[in-house]
Amino acid sequence: MATILDGVSRTFGEFLLIPRLTRKEQRPDQVDLSTPLSAIEPNQLARFKINTPVVSAAMQSVSGSRLGISLARQGGLAFIFCSQDVASQAEIVRQVKMHKAGFVSSDTNATADMSLREMIELMEKTGHSTVPVTEDGSGRGRLVGLITDQDFWEFEDDLENKVAQHMTPIEEVIHGHEGITLREANQLLHRHKKNCLPILDEKGNLTSLVFKKDYEDHMRHPNELLDESKRLCVGAAINTHDYRERVPAVLEAGADALCFDSSDGFTEFQKEGIEWIRADYGPDVVIGGGNVVSAEGFDYLVETGGVDFIKVGMGGGSICITREQKGVGRGQASALLEVVERRDAYYQETGRYIPICSDGGLANDTQIVIALAMGADFVMMGRYFAMTEESPTPKTSINGQMYKPYWGEGTRRAQNWQRYGDGKSTREMVFEEGVDAYVPLVGSVAECLETTLYKLRSTMVNVGADSLAEFRDQAMLTMVSEQSVVEAGTSTVFQFTASRDVEESRWGEKN
Ligand code: IMP
Repeated sequence: MATILDGVSRTFGEFLLIPRLTRKEQRPDQVDLSTPLSAIEPNQLARFKINTPVVSAAMQSVSGSRLGISLARQGGLAFIFCSQDVASQAEIVRQVKMHKAGFVSSDTNATADMSLREMIELMEKTGHSTVPVTEDGSGRGRLVGLITDQDFWEFEDDLENKVAQHMTPIEEVIHGHEGITLREANQLLHRHKKNCLPILDEKGNLTSLVFKKDYEDHMRHPNELLDESKRLCVGAAINTHDYRERVPAVLEAGADALCFDSSDGFTEFQKEGIEWIRADYGPDVVIGGGNVVSAEGFDYLVETGGVDFIKVGMGGGSICITREQKGVGRGQASALLEVVERRDAYYQETGRYIPICSDGGLANDTQIVIALAMGADFVMMGRYFAMTEESPTPKTSINGQMYKPYWGEGTRRAQNWQRYGDGKSTREMVFEEGVDAYVPLVGSVAECLETTLYKLRSTMVNVGADSLAEFRDQAMLTMVSEQSVVEAGTSTVFQFTASRDVEESRWGEKN
Protein backbone atom coordinates (compact mmCIF):
# COMPACT_ATOMS: atom_id res chain seq x y z
CA MET A 1 0.00 0.00 0.00
CA ALA A 2 1.15 3.54 -0.65
CA THR A 3 2.73 5.51 2.20
CA ILE A 4 0.68 8.48 3.32
CA LEU A 5 2.81 11.12 5.03
CA ASP A 6 1.60 12.70 8.25
CA GLY A 7 0.57 16.33 7.95
CA VAL A 8 -0.34 18.34 4.88
CA SER A 9 1.81 20.12 2.31
CA ARG A 10 2.48 23.61 3.66
CA THR A 11 3.33 26.83 1.82
CA PHE A 12 5.34 29.84 2.99
CA GLY A 13 2.24 32.02 3.30
CA GLU A 14 1.14 29.91 6.28
CA PHE A 15 4.06 30.92 8.49
CA LEU A 16 5.16 33.98 10.43
CA LEU A 17 8.34 34.76 12.33
CA ILE A 18 8.27 35.55 16.05
CA PRO A 19 10.56 38.46 16.98
CA ARG A 20 13.51 37.67 19.23
CA LEU A 21 15.81 39.97 21.18
CA THR A 22 17.21 42.83 19.08
CA ARG A 23 20.44 44.22 20.52
CA LYS A 24 20.96 47.98 20.72
CA GLU A 25 23.94 48.02 18.37
CA GLN A 26 22.18 46.08 15.58
CA ARG A 27 21.46 47.90 12.34
CA PRO A 28 19.95 46.54 9.12
CA ASP A 29 22.79 47.89 6.97
CA GLN A 30 25.35 45.94 9.00
CA VAL A 31 23.73 42.55 8.50
CA ASP A 32 25.87 40.09 6.51
CA LEU A 33 23.93 38.49 3.62
CA SER A 34 26.78 36.44 2.16
CA THR A 35 26.04 32.75 1.83
CA PRO A 36 27.78 29.60 0.57
CA LEU A 37 27.01 28.01 -2.80
CA SER A 38 29.51 25.19 -2.43
CA ALA A 39 29.58 22.31 0.02
CA ILE A 40 31.69 23.10 3.10
CA GLU A 41 34.02 20.30 4.14
CA PRO A 42 34.82 19.85 7.86
CA ASN A 43 37.10 22.63 9.16
CA GLN A 44 37.30 24.31 5.75
CA LEU A 45 35.80 27.43 4.19
CA ALA A 46 33.28 27.48 1.35
CA ARG A 47 34.99 27.40 -2.08
CA PHE A 48 32.37 29.71 -3.53
CA LYS A 49 30.10 32.22 -1.81
CA ILE A 50 27.65 34.77 -3.13
CA ASN A 51 27.17 38.15 -1.47
CA THR A 52 23.38 38.23 -1.75
CA PRO A 53 21.27 35.09 -1.13
CA VAL A 54 19.48 35.27 -4.46
CA VAL A 55 19.98 33.46 -7.78
CA SER A 56 17.95 33.71 -10.97
CA ALA A 57 16.09 30.78 -12.49
CA ALA A 58 17.63 29.04 -15.49
CA MET A 59 14.85 30.12 -17.84
CA GLN A 60 14.73 31.59 -21.36
CA SER A 61 12.55 34.49 -20.24
CA VAL A 62 14.73 35.25 -17.21
CA SER A 63 18.46 34.65 -17.34
CA GLY A 64 20.26 36.29 -20.26
CA SER A 65 23.48 38.29 -20.25
CA ARG A 66 21.95 41.62 -19.14
CA LEU A 67 20.31 40.01 -16.15
CA GLY A 68 23.50 38.07 -15.40
CA ILE A 69 25.49 41.29 -15.32
CA SER A 70 22.99 43.22 -13.20
CA LEU A 71 22.45 40.43 -10.70
CA ALA A 72 26.18 39.83 -10.20
CA ARG A 73 26.57 43.55 -9.66
CA GLN A 74 24.10 43.21 -6.78
CA GLY A 75 26.02 40.27 -5.32
CA GLY A 76 23.75 37.48 -6.60
CA LEU A 77 24.22 34.95 -9.39
CA ALA A 78 22.30 34.22 -12.59
CA PHE A 79 22.07 30.71 -13.97
CA ILE A 80 22.10 31.07 -17.76
CA PHE A 81 19.45 28.77 -19.21
CA CYS A 82 20.40 25.55 -20.97
CA SER A 83 17.32 25.32 -23.18
CA GLN A 84 19.40 26.59 -26.08
CA ASP A 85 22.25 25.15 -28.08
CA VAL A 86 25.59 24.80 -26.33
CA ALA A 87 27.35 27.50 -28.35
CA SER A 88 24.76 30.20 -27.64
CA GLN A 89 24.70 29.43 -23.91
CA ALA A 90 28.50 29.58 -23.79
CA GLU A 91 28.35 32.91 -25.64
CA ILE A 92 26.02 34.40 -22.99
CA VAL A 93 28.30 33.16 -20.21
CA ARG A 94 31.22 34.75 -22.06
CA GLN A 95 29.36 38.07 -22.40
CA VAL A 96 28.88 38.28 -18.64
CA LYS A 97 32.50 37.33 -17.96
CA MET A 98 33.78 39.82 -20.55
CA HIS A 99 31.67 42.65 -19.18
CA LYS A 100 34.13 45.10 -17.79
CA ALA A 101 32.33 46.69 -14.89
CA GLY A 102 31.56 50.24 -15.86
CA PHE A 103 32.29 49.87 -19.61
CA VAL A 104 29.04 49.01 -21.38
CA SER A 105 28.56 47.94 -25.02
CA SER A 106 26.13 50.30 -26.69
CA ASP A 107 22.93 48.51 -27.73
CA THR A 108 20.90 51.58 -28.82
CA ASN A 109 22.49 53.37 -31.75
CA ALA A 110 21.35 55.73 -34.51
CA THR A 111 22.63 57.08 -37.81
CA ALA A 112 22.81 60.81 -38.56
CA ASP A 113 20.19 60.59 -41.34
CA MET A 114 17.60 58.81 -39.21
CA SER A 115 14.49 60.92 -38.46
CA LEU A 116 13.75 62.11 -34.94
CA ARG A 117 10.56 60.04 -35.11
CA GLU A 118 12.51 56.81 -35.76
CA MET A 119 15.00 57.70 -33.05
CA ILE A 120 12.25 58.34 -30.48
CA GLU A 121 10.73 54.96 -31.35
CA LEU A 122 14.12 53.38 -30.77
CA MET A 123 14.49 55.14 -27.42
CA GLU A 124 11.04 53.95 -26.36
CA LYS A 125 11.78 50.39 -27.43
CA THR A 126 15.03 50.08 -25.54
CA GLY A 127 14.29 52.51 -22.72
CA HIS A 128 17.61 54.32 -23.27
CA SER A 129 17.73 58.10 -23.42
CA THR A 130 21.34 58.52 -24.59
CA VAL A 131 22.07 57.28 -28.09
CA PRO A 132 25.45 57.25 -29.87
CA VAL A 133 25.22 58.23 -33.53
CA THR A 134 27.57 56.14 -35.65
CA GLU A 135 28.34 55.99 -39.35
CA ASP A 136 26.79 52.56 -39.81
CA GLY A 137 24.29 52.73 -36.93
CA SER A 138 26.05 49.92 -35.03
CA GLY A 139 27.47 49.94 -31.51
CA ARG A 140 31.02 49.49 -32.89
CA GLY A 141 30.83 51.96 -35.79
CA ARG A 142 32.69 55.28 -36.19
CA LEU A 143 31.17 57.81 -33.82
CA VAL A 144 29.79 60.93 -35.49
CA GLY A 145 27.77 62.37 -32.61
CA LEU A 146 25.68 61.79 -29.53
CA ILE A 147 22.00 62.52 -29.01
CA THR A 148 20.01 62.45 -25.78
CA ASP A 149 16.38 63.15 -24.93
CA GLN A 150 17.52 66.62 -23.82
CA ASP A 151 18.46 67.52 -27.42
CA PHE A 152 14.92 67.78 -28.81
CA TRP A 153 11.37 68.53 -27.74
CA GLU A 154 9.13 65.74 -28.90
CA PHE A 155 6.02 67.92 -29.11
CA GLU A 156 7.69 71.08 -30.47
CA ASP A 157 10.32 69.92 -32.95
CA ASP A 158 9.53 68.59 -36.41
CA LEU A 159 9.86 64.83 -36.01
CA GLU A 160 10.93 64.50 -39.66
CA ASN A 161 14.13 66.42 -38.76
CA LYS A 162 17.28 64.36 -39.09
CA VAL A 163 19.18 63.22 -36.01
CA ALA A 164 22.15 65.20 -37.42
CA GLN A 165 20.25 68.47 -36.81
CA HIS A 166 19.88 67.78 -33.09
CA MET A 167 22.86 65.68 -32.03
CA THR A 168 26.04 66.97 -30.42
CA PRO A 169 28.59 66.51 -33.24
CA ILE A 170 31.69 64.44 -32.59
CA GLU A 171 33.95 67.52 -32.40
CA GLU A 172 32.04 68.60 -29.29
CA VAL A 173 31.49 65.19 -27.71
CA ILE A 174 33.62 64.67 -24.59
CA HIS A 175 35.01 61.17 -25.02
CA GLY A 176 37.69 58.84 -23.71
CA HIS A 177 40.24 56.67 -25.53
CA GLU A 178 40.46 52.90 -25.37
CA GLY A 179 42.70 51.83 -22.51
CA ILE A 180 41.42 54.53 -20.16
CA THR A 181 40.78 53.23 -16.64
CA LEU A 182 37.32 53.38 -15.14
CA ARG A 183 38.57 55.83 -12.56
CA GLU A 184 39.89 58.17 -15.28
CA ALA A 185 36.63 57.84 -17.22
CA ASN A 186 34.60 58.76 -14.16
CA GLN A 187 36.88 61.72 -13.50
CA LEU A 188 36.21 62.98 -17.07
CA LEU A 189 32.45 62.63 -16.53
CA HIS A 190 32.76 64.51 -13.25
CA ARG A 191 34.97 67.29 -14.63
CA HIS A 192 32.78 67.93 -17.67
CA LYS A 193 29.45 67.44 -15.85
CA LYS A 194 28.38 64.72 -18.32
CA ASN A 195 26.12 61.70 -17.87
CA CYS A 196 27.68 59.53 -20.58
CA LEU A 197 31.23 59.13 -21.88
CA PRO A 198 31.77 57.31 -25.20
CA ILE A 199 35.07 55.41 -25.42
CA LEU A 200 36.69 55.34 -28.88
CA ASP A 201 39.53 53.34 -30.41
CA GLU A 202 42.34 54.98 -32.36
CA LYS A 203 40.21 54.98 -35.56
CA GLY A 204 37.33 56.78 -33.85
CA ASN A 205 35.15 53.65 -33.60
CA LEU A 206 32.92 53.35 -30.58
CA THR A 207 34.05 50.60 -28.18
CA SER A 208 31.92 51.23 -25.09
CA LEU A 209 30.09 53.78 -22.99
CA VAL A 210 30.65 54.83 -19.39
CA PHE A 211 27.67 56.21 -17.48
CA LYS A 212 27.56 58.43 -14.42
CA LYS A 213 24.58 56.42 -13.16
CA ASP A 214 26.67 53.24 -13.21
CA TYR A 215 29.30 54.94 -11.08
CA GLU A 216 26.59 55.98 -8.62
CA ASP A 217 25.09 52.49 -8.76
CA HIS A 218 28.48 50.98 -7.99
CA MET A 219 29.02 53.31 -5.04
CA ARG A 220 25.59 52.38 -3.70
CA HIS A 221 26.11 48.65 -4.30
CA PRO A 222 29.62 47.72 -3.38
CA ASN A 223 28.54 44.08 -3.17
CA GLU A 224 29.47 42.98 -6.69
CA LEU A 225 30.17 39.27 -7.03
CA LEU A 226 33.60 39.07 -8.66
CA ASP A 227 35.98 36.21 -9.38
CA GLU A 228 39.71 36.29 -8.63
CA SER A 229 40.35 38.22 -11.86
CA LYS A 230 37.74 40.85 -10.90
CA ARG A 231 35.30 39.61 -13.54
CA LEU A 232 31.61 39.28 -12.69
CA CYS A 233 30.50 35.79 -11.67
CA VAL A 234 27.86 33.81 -13.53
CA GLY A 235 26.36 30.32 -13.33
CA ALA A 236 25.32 27.95 -16.11
CA ALA A 237 22.47 25.49 -16.07
CA ILE A 238 23.06 22.02 -17.50
CA ASN A 239 20.82 19.05 -18.21
CA THR A 240 21.17 15.30 -18.01
CA HIS A 241 21.03 14.81 -21.81
CA ASP A 242 24.01 16.69 -23.19
CA TYR A 243 26.26 17.54 -20.21
CA ARG A 244 29.22 15.83 -21.87
CA GLU A 245 29.23 18.60 -24.54
CA ARG A 246 27.74 21.42 -22.49
CA VAL A 247 29.90 21.30 -19.36
CA PRO A 248 33.24 21.69 -21.18
CA ALA A 249 31.85 24.59 -23.25
CA VAL A 250 30.37 26.61 -20.38
CA LEU A 251 33.38 26.05 -18.14
CA GLU A 252 35.66 27.12 -20.97
CA ALA A 253 33.51 30.26 -21.34
CA GLY A 254 34.14 31.00 -17.66
CA ALA A 255 31.05 29.77 -15.75
CA ASP A 256 31.67 29.94 -12.00
CA ALA A 257 29.04 27.38 -11.00
CA LEU A 258 26.98 24.68 -12.69
CA CYS A 259 23.48 23.62 -11.80
CA PHE A 260 21.38 20.76 -13.08
CA ASP A 261 18.09 22.15 -14.31
CA SER A 262 15.44 19.55 -13.66
CA SER A 263 12.05 19.51 -11.99
CA ASP A 264 12.93 16.05 -10.64
CA GLY A 265 16.57 15.50 -9.73
CA PHE A 266 15.97 12.32 -7.74
CA THR A 267 17.12 10.24 -10.71
CA GLU A 268 19.93 7.94 -11.72
CA PHE A 269 20.55 10.25 -14.70
CA GLN A 270 21.47 13.10 -12.40
CA LYS A 271 23.64 10.92 -10.18
CA GLU A 272 25.59 9.80 -13.26
CA GLY A 273 25.91 13.40 -14.44
CA ILE A 274 27.30 14.62 -11.12
CA GLU A 275 29.74 11.72 -10.97
CA TRP A 276 30.88 12.32 -14.56
CA ILE A 277 31.61 16.01 -13.92
CA ARG A 278 33.48 15.30 -10.68
CA ALA A 279 35.55 12.57 -12.31
CA ASP A 280 36.47 14.77 -15.28
CA TYR A 281 36.75 18.19 -13.68
CA GLY A 282 37.96 17.44 -10.15
CA PRO A 283 36.92 18.85 -6.79
CA ASP A 284 36.89 22.59 -7.58
CA VAL A 285 33.99 22.99 -10.00
CA VAL A 286 30.78 23.96 -8.17
CA ILE A 287 27.85 21.64 -9.00
CA GLY A 288 24.25 22.15 -7.94
CA GLY A 289 21.80 19.26 -8.00
CA GLY A 290 18.04 18.89 -7.76
CA ASN A 291 15.25 19.48 -7.59
CA VAL A 292 14.23 17.30 -4.68
CA VAL A 293 11.37 17.68 -2.21
CA SER A 294 12.18 14.98 0.35
CA ALA A 295 14.90 13.80 2.72
CA GLU A 296 15.41 10.67 0.62
CA GLY A 297 15.96 12.80 -2.49
CA PHE A 298 18.56 14.83 -0.56
CA ASP A 299 20.32 11.68 0.67
CA TYR A 300 20.44 10.22 -2.83
CA LEU A 301 22.17 13.24 -4.35
CA VAL A 302 24.53 13.70 -1.39
CA GLU A 303 25.59 10.06 -1.63
CA THR A 304 27.13 10.85 -5.04
CA GLY A 305 29.77 12.64 -2.96
CA GLY A 306 29.96 15.29 -5.66
CA VAL A 307 27.08 17.66 -5.19
CA ASP A 308 27.73 21.14 -3.77
CA PHE A 309 24.27 22.54 -3.25
CA ILE A 310 20.79 21.09 -3.60
CA LYS A 311 17.72 22.81 -4.98
CA VAL A 312 14.36 22.14 -3.39
CA GLY A 313 10.99 22.61 -5.05
CA MET A 314 8.54 20.96 -7.35
CA GLY A 315 5.34 22.43 -8.62
CA GLY A 316 5.44 25.75 -6.75
CA GLY A 317 6.72 27.95 -9.57
CA SER A 318 4.43 30.77 -10.65
CA ILE A 319 4.21 29.44 -14.23
CA CYS A 320 4.20 25.80 -13.14
CA ILE A 321 1.35 23.36 -13.72
CA THR A 322 3.30 20.17 -12.92
CA ARG A 323 1.11 19.35 -9.92
CA GLU A 324 -2.07 19.68 -11.96
CA GLN A 325 -0.70 17.83 -14.96
CA LYS A 326 1.09 14.96 -13.26
CA GLY A 327 0.00 14.86 -9.62
CA VAL A 328 3.57 15.15 -8.30
CA GLY A 329 5.11 17.90 -6.17
CA ARG A 330 4.96 19.20 -2.64
CA GLY A 331 4.08 22.40 -0.80
CA GLN A 332 7.29 24.41 -0.84
CA ALA A 333 7.48 25.02 2.92
CA SER A 334 7.00 21.33 3.76
CA ALA A 335 9.57 20.29 1.18
CA LEU A 336 12.11 22.82 2.39
CA LEU A 337 11.60 22.02 6.10
CA GLU A 338 12.08 18.29 5.53
CA VAL A 339 15.20 18.70 3.40
CA VAL A 340 16.74 21.27 5.76
CA GLU A 341 16.12 18.98 8.74
CA ARG A 342 17.91 16.17 6.88
CA ARG A 343 20.75 18.50 5.84
CA ASP A 344 21.25 19.63 9.46
CA ALA A 345 21.29 16.01 10.67
CA TYR A 346 23.82 15.14 7.93
CA TYR A 347 25.98 18.06 9.09
CA GLN A 348 25.85 16.81 12.69
CA GLU A 349 26.80 13.28 11.54
CA THR A 350 29.59 14.15 9.10
CA GLY A 351 30.66 17.78 9.57
CA ARG A 352 29.86 18.41 5.87
CA TYR A 353 27.53 21.33 5.19
CA ILE A 354 25.39 21.24 2.04
CA PRO A 355 23.77 24.58 1.12
CA ILE A 356 20.09 24.40 0.20
CA CYS A 357 18.39 26.54 -2.46
CA SER A 358 14.65 27.10 -2.24
CA ASP A 359 13.49 27.21 -5.85
CA GLY A 360 10.25 28.73 -7.10
CA GLY A 361 6.91 29.84 -5.75
CA LEU A 362 8.09 32.89 -3.83
CA ALA A 363 5.12 35.19 -4.12
CA ASN A 364 6.41 38.23 -2.23
CA ASP A 365 9.32 39.60 -0.22
CA THR A 366 7.98 38.10 3.00
CA GLN A 367 8.16 34.62 1.52
CA ILE A 368 11.81 35.13 0.61
CA VAL A 369 12.44 36.03 4.25
CA ILE A 370 10.50 32.98 5.49
CA ALA A 371 12.36 30.62 3.12
CA LEU A 372 15.72 31.87 4.43
CA ALA A 373 14.49 31.64 8.03
CA MET A 374 13.39 28.06 7.42
CA GLY A 375 16.91 27.08 6.47
CA ALA A 376 17.42 27.85 2.79
CA ASP A 377 20.91 29.28 2.21
CA PHE A 378 19.66 31.12 -0.86
CA VAL A 379 16.59 31.32 -3.07
CA MET A 380 16.10 30.89 -6.82
CA MET A 381 13.46 33.04 -8.51
CA GLY A 382 12.01 33.28 -11.99
CA ARG A 383 9.06 35.62 -11.94
CA TYR A 384 10.84 38.14 -9.70
CA PHE A 385 13.52 38.66 -12.35
CA ALA A 386 11.22 38.26 -15.36
CA MET A 387 9.57 41.48 -14.11
CA THR A 388 12.78 43.51 -14.32
CA GLU A 389 14.07 45.69 -17.11
CA GLU A 390 17.05 43.39 -17.53
CA SER A 391 15.16 40.18 -18.32
CA PRO A 392 15.78 39.21 -21.95
CA THR A 393 12.22 39.71 -23.21
CA PRO A 394 10.76 42.82 -24.91
CA LYS A 395 8.47 45.07 -22.91
CA THR A 396 4.89 45.29 -24.14
CA SER A 397 2.19 47.81 -23.36
CA ILE A 398 -1.21 46.34 -22.45
CA ASN A 399 -3.95 48.81 -21.51
CA GLY A 400 -1.38 51.45 -20.67
CA GLN A 401 0.62 49.26 -18.29
CA MET A 402 4.01 47.82 -19.26
CA TYR A 403 4.39 44.04 -19.16
CA LYS A 404 7.01 41.45 -20.03
CA PRO A 405 6.39 37.95 -21.33
CA TYR A 406 7.24 35.14 -18.90
CA TRP A 407 7.01 31.47 -19.84
CA GLY A 408 7.93 28.19 -18.16
CA GLU A 409 10.70 25.94 -19.33
CA GLY A 410 8.14 23.15 -19.58
CA THR A 411 6.13 24.96 -22.27
CA ARG A 412 6.20 24.11 -25.96
CA ARG A 413 7.58 27.57 -26.56
CA ALA A 414 10.63 26.88 -24.38
CA GLN A 415 11.16 23.35 -25.62
CA ASN A 416 10.98 24.34 -29.28
CA TRP A 417 14.68 25.22 -29.29
CA GLN A 418 15.49 21.53 -29.67
CA ARG A 419 13.87 21.48 -33.08
CA TYR A 420 16.36 24.07 -34.28
CA GLY A 421 19.29 22.82 -32.22
CA ASP A 422 21.35 19.78 -32.98
CA GLY A 423 18.33 17.99 -34.39
CA LYS A 424 19.06 15.02 -32.10
CA SER A 425 16.24 15.48 -29.63
CA THR A 426 13.07 16.38 -31.42
CA ARG A 427 10.92 14.41 -28.97
CA GLU A 428 7.29 15.43 -29.42
CA MET A 429 5.82 17.05 -26.29
CA VAL A 430 2.71 15.23 -25.17
CA PHE A 431 1.69 17.74 -22.53
CA GLU A 432 3.05 20.99 -21.09
CA GLU A 433 4.22 21.52 -17.51
CA GLY A 434 4.27 25.30 -17.65
CA VAL A 435 2.32 28.25 -18.94
CA ASP A 436 3.06 31.21 -21.16
CA ALA A 437 2.15 34.47 -19.39
CA TYR A 438 2.81 38.17 -18.91
CA VAL A 439 4.13 39.85 -15.77
CA PRO A 440 4.18 43.58 -15.00
CA LEU A 441 7.42 45.44 -15.58
CA VAL A 442 8.46 46.82 -12.21
CA GLY A 443 11.93 48.32 -12.54
CA SER A 444 15.59 47.43 -12.57
CA VAL A 445 17.17 44.52 -10.73
CA ALA A 446 18.95 47.03 -8.49
CA GLU A 447 15.72 48.82 -7.57
CA CYS A 448 13.82 45.61 -6.84
CA LEU A 449 16.58 44.02 -4.80
CA GLU A 450 17.19 47.16 -2.80
CA THR A 451 13.70 46.96 -1.31
CA THR A 452 13.66 43.19 -0.92
CA LEU A 453 17.04 43.03 0.77
CA TYR A 454 16.27 45.93 3.05
CA LYS A 455 13.18 44.11 4.26
CA LEU A 456 15.23 40.95 4.77
CA ARG A 457 17.86 42.82 6.78
CA SER A 458 15.19 44.49 8.93
CA THR A 459 13.55 41.17 9.73
CA MET A 460 16.93 39.66 10.59
CA VAL A 461 17.42 42.47 13.09
CA ASN A 462 13.95 41.71 14.54
CA VAL A 463 15.19 38.19 15.13
CA GLY A 464 18.53 39.39 16.58
CA ALA A 465 20.57 37.88 13.72
CA ASP A 466 23.73 39.39 12.21
CA SER A 467 24.17 36.73 9.52
CA LEU A 468 22.03 34.29 7.57
CA ALA A 469 23.43 31.38 9.62
CA GLU A 470 22.31 33.11 12.83
CA PHE A 471 18.97 33.88 11.22
CA ARG A 472 18.37 30.16 10.53
CA ASP A 473 19.49 29.17 14.03
CA GLN A 474 17.45 31.80 15.85
CA ALA A 475 14.33 31.82 13.71
CA MET A 476 11.17 30.84 15.57
CA LEU A 477 8.16 30.40 13.30
CA THR A 478 4.48 30.00 13.96
CA MET A 479 1.71 28.81 11.68
CA VAL A 480 -1.03 31.29 11.00
CA SER A 481 -4.76 30.80 10.82
CA GLU A 482 -6.84 32.29 8.01
CA GLN A 483 -8.15 34.81 10.53
CA SER A 484 -4.66 35.99 11.41
CA VAL A 485 -3.90 36.52 7.72
CA VAL A 486 -6.89 38.87 7.58
CA GLU A 487 -5.67 40.58 10.76
CA ALA A 488 -2.21 41.07 9.24
CA GLY A 489 -3.64 43.01 6.31
CA THR A 490 -5.41 46.36 6.35
CA SER A 491 -8.89 45.19 5.45
CA THR A 492 -10.56 47.41 8.05
CA VAL A 493 -9.26 50.72 6.69
CA PHE A 494 -9.25 52.41 3.30
CA GLN A 495 -5.84 53.16 1.84
CA PHE A 496 -4.92 55.68 -0.78
CA THR A 497 -1.18 55.16 -1.11
CA ALA A 498 0.57 54.83 -4.44
CA SER A 499 3.35 52.71 -2.98
CA ARG A 500 1.00 49.83 -2.24
CA ASP A 501 -0.23 49.78 -5.84
CA VAL A 502 3.34 49.51 -7.04
CA GLU A 503 4.01 46.69 -4.60
CA GLU A 504 0.91 44.79 -5.69
CA SER A 505 1.71 45.09 -9.36
CA ARG A 506 5.19 43.86 -8.57
CA TRP A 507 4.02 40.59 -7.14
CA GLY A 508 0.88 40.02 -9.20
CA GLU A 509 -2.01 37.83 -8.31
CA LYS A 510 -0.81 34.23 -8.00
CA ASN A 511 -0.73 32.78 -4.46
P1 IMP B 1 8.93 31.37 -9.89
O1 IMP B 1 10.05 32.09 -9.21
O2 IMP B 1 7.77 31.11 -8.95
O3 IMP B 1 8.51 32.01 -11.15
O4 IMP B 1 9.48 29.91 -10.24
C1 IMP B 1 10.63 29.68 -11.02
C2 IMP B 1 10.95 28.20 -10.98
O5 IMP B 1 9.89 27.45 -11.58
C3 IMP B 1 12.18 27.78 -11.76
O6 IMP B 1 13.39 28.01 -11.08
C4 IMP B 1 11.93 26.30 -12.00
O7 IMP B 1 12.30 25.51 -10.90
C5 IMP B 1 10.43 26.24 -12.12
N1 IMP B 1 9.97 26.16 -13.53
C6 IMP B 1 10.45 26.79 -14.61
N2 IMP B 1 9.73 26.50 -15.72
C7 IMP B 1 8.78 25.63 -15.33
C8 IMP B 1 7.73 24.96 -16.01
O8 IMP B 1 7.48 25.13 -17.21
N3 IMP B 1 6.97 24.12 -15.25
C9 IMP B 1 7.21 23.92 -13.93
N4 IMP B 1 8.15 24.57 -13.24
C10 IMP B 1 8.94 25.41 -13.93
